[in-house]
Amino acid sequence: MEIYRIRGGEALKGTVDISGAKNAALPILAATILTDETITLENVPKVNDTIIMVETLVNLGAKVEYIDDNTLKINTSTINKCVVDNPNIKKIRASYYFAGALLGRYHQARVPLPGGCNIGGRGLDMHEKGFEALGADVKITATEIVVDGTEGPLSGTRMYMDKVSVGATINIMLAAVLTPGKTVIEGAAKEPHVVDVANFINGIGGHITGAGTDKIRINGVPALRGGTYAVIPDQIEAGTFMMAAAITHGDIVVNNVIPTHLDSISSKLREIGCKIEESDDWVRVIGPKDKLKRTQVKTLPYPGFPTDMQPQISVALGLADGCSTVVESIFDNRFMYVNELKKMGCNIVVDESTTAYIDGVEYYQGANMTSPDLRAGAALVLAALAAKGVSEIDGIEYIERGYENFDKKLRNLGADIEKLEV
Ligand code: UD1
Repeated sequence: MEIYRIRGGEALKGTVDISGAKNAALPILAATILTDETITLENVPKVNDTIIMVETLVNLGAKVEYIDDNTLKINTSTINKCVVDNPNIKKIRASYYFAGALLGRYHQARVPLPGGCNIGGRGLDMHEKGFEALGADVKITATEIVVDGTEGPLSGTRMYMDKVSVGATINIMLAAVLTPGKTVIEGAAKEPHVVDVANFINGIGGHITGAGTDKIRINGVPALRGGTYAVIPDQIEAGTFMMAAAITHGDIVVNNVIPTHLDSISSKLREIGCKIEESDDWVRVIGPKDKLKRTQVKTLPYPGFPTDMQPQISVALGLADGCSTVVESIFDNRFMYVNELKKMGCNIVVDESTTAYIDGVEYYQGANMTSPDLRAGAALVLAALAAKGVSEIDGIEYIERGYENFDKKLRNLGADIEKLEV
């Protein structure tokens, strides 16, 4: 087992280059199924989740070549089955994108139920509703999603999402790109990765408009071409390093980002006392000399404050001057890290699994902790970087699902962190 050992107390300083966005790369990898021609994908983060997606494409019969760590050449014309049976796929949430892509291209798919972080109910009803509206027969059993559009022709449709869902919005887009007619998704998610998937598909001949608004229109096209595409920078990795500057009272230039994607995070960091400078593709965060200030946070769909940054800001507010409130409005089980954080002396109480009341303490004390999920694990690392003494964090395979070279990037900023085999 690997763990991170962290000696806290260093103010992190310097420049960090942000990798490609995991949550954009995953559906784009699945979307390569929609064309028979060769796709070159650049800026794909080499993290456990993308490695499993690639492994699964290969298992389906696709040809995938790593040109370098972050560039892939993919040809899916050799796919010879619509059953996803790579056992590792159960570890990740994005497995559901194979259902949309295989349905769109081959009109059928069998995909194991998604795994990923245990942060709440994470239903699939809107994916199901979307596939059915396109004309597919959908069965969700205790172990798998089975979609079948072979009985009748799939055709464009209009659908209303009952809840804003990133996964369902993208999945329906994937299924609709090659489906004849016009599909309209009302109440669509507006996250940057939704827009990135649409841009990728349009770049190879798709016809999607309105991505980034709550109404997406997809005009089905008969076929897509090949092409080259670079994945956008990772909003959440960037936000995590921005929070690292705040919590360690450091000064970090977060490079290779799209600053508008970070607006809600920058705005909260200003509220808690950080200074923010921005340019075209970087954001500099200068932590305050004194204590962080308290604030209120509520997670919301984009452009609101991202749920994937909730643990990180909660950890920072645990060291703020006074009482803060953090409301989690997207997932119903996203405070699993609280008991771990309490081991460091954090004064945090969670009410009804949705609201955390945090009374800032003077300092965190190093502790041994277990990472309960991807973003919570990253947040515990931030807490350990700010703590007095040494912390050990296990369960880091969760963190490495989403952060490329996390320990190395932190070390380059002056952190005392090592990855150990125990
Ligand atoms: C994606 C991201 C995840 C992020 C989340 C919200 C990936 C691989 N994961 O997850 O990092 O935290 O968006 O930004 O991109 N819901 C339903 N029925 C459905 C679909 C969703 O009830 O059919 C609910 C979920 O339980 C949740 C909410 O809708 O409460 C939002 O979920 P969704 O946006 O779909 O998140 P994911 O796609 O799972």
